[in-house]
Amino acid sequence: MEKTDIAMEKETKLMDRNLGLALARVTETAAISSAKWMGRGDKNAADQAAVTGMRNMFETVNIDGVVVIGEGEKDEAPMLYIGEEIGKAGPDAVKVDIAVDPLDGTTSTAKGLSNAIAVIALAPRGNLYHTKNYYMSKLAVGPKAKDAIDLEKPLKENLLNVADALNKKIEDLTVTILERDRHKDIMAQCRQLGCRIKLFTDGDVGAAIATCFEDSGVDVLAGIGGCPEGVLAAAALKCLGGEIQGRLVAHTSEEIRRSQTDPSYYKVMKTDDLAAGDDVLFIATGVSDGDMLKGVRFLPNNKVR
Ligand code: FBP
Repeated sequence: MEKTDIAMEKETKLMDRNLGLALARVTETAAISSAKWMGRGDKNAADQAAVTGMRNMFETVNIDGVVVIGEGEKDEAPMLYIGEEIGKAGPDAVKVDIAVDPLDGTTSTAKGLSNAIAVIALAPRGNLYHTKNYYMSKLAVGPKAKDAIDLEKPLKENLLNVADALNKKIEDLTVTILERDRHKDIMAQCRQLGCRIKLFTDGDVGAAIATCFEDSGVDVLAGIGGCPEGVLAAAALKCLGGEIQGRLVAHTSEEIRRSQTDPSYYKVMKTDDLAAGDDVLFIATGVSDGDMLKGVRFLPNNKVR
C-alpha cells in the first residue's frame, strides 16, 4: 500500500487517536500548500506556504500547545515561532510541547527533488529538548541495533558494533549520510572500513527514520544536521523503538564562543534526552515522493491526494 501520511505514537495515555488524526490534517495542509511550489525555484515561498498552512490548521486542534522547536525567535518569525502558544486550548486540552518543521526539504521542494516532508512532534509539556544551537552531530539506528551505538566512541567502533548487532558483515552495512563537504571524513572512514554508503541531498529526519525499516536499505544515519531535525527524529525513533544520539556542534562565532564554557556542547544526548517520556507523537506527510512517503498529487477537478 502506498503511504502518504504516518502518525506514530509511543503510547496513547495522554494523546488519543482522534488527536493523531487531527494532527495529520495539520501536516497534510502544510504538505499540500508547499507542494504547490514544487520545482518553482523559490524555497522561501515553499517554506512560507507550509508554515501558513500548518499554523492555520493548528487552530482547529484542541491542544494547549507551546512551540519549542519552530521557525526561530518571535522577532524573526511571525508564525510558529519558539514560545508561540497554539491550539484551541479548550477545557480538556492537553498541555504539550510542539516541535514543527513545516517543510523539511525546502531546497528539495524548490528543485522538485524527492524526500521533502512536513513534520510535527508532540509530547507533554517540558518533554521535548530545545536549543538555539544550529547543528547537531547525529548517529541513528533501528530497534535491533539500539543498544549498539555510543556517540562517545569512534565512528568505526560504532559501525562494527552495529554490524554485529544486525548480524551483518561490515561490507553489507549501509550508512546514510547527508551529502555535505563537512562529511568527507565520515565518508572516508566508512569506505576504509568497507561499508556501503547512501548519500542524500536533504532531509535527515526521514533518513533517520529509514534506519528503523529493514526494507529501506539503510542501517545507520551518521553526520551533522540541524538540531530541530534531531529532536523531530528522536520523537519518531522513540515511537519506532530505534535510537538516535546527538551532540551539539558549535558553528556560528557566537556558538563557538559559548561552547568554550557551556558543558552541553560535550554531552551526548540520547533519544530519551531529546524526546523524554513515553507519550510521544510524531506525524509526517510527504510533500515530494520519498523512500518513506509518497508526495502530494494534484488531480483533475481541483482534487488533491
Ligand atoms: P530545510 O529544508 O529546513 O532547509 O532543512 C533541510 C536539511 O537537509 C535538514 O534535514 C538537515 O538537518 C539540514 O538541512 C542540514 O543543514 P545544512 O543544509 O545547512 O547542511
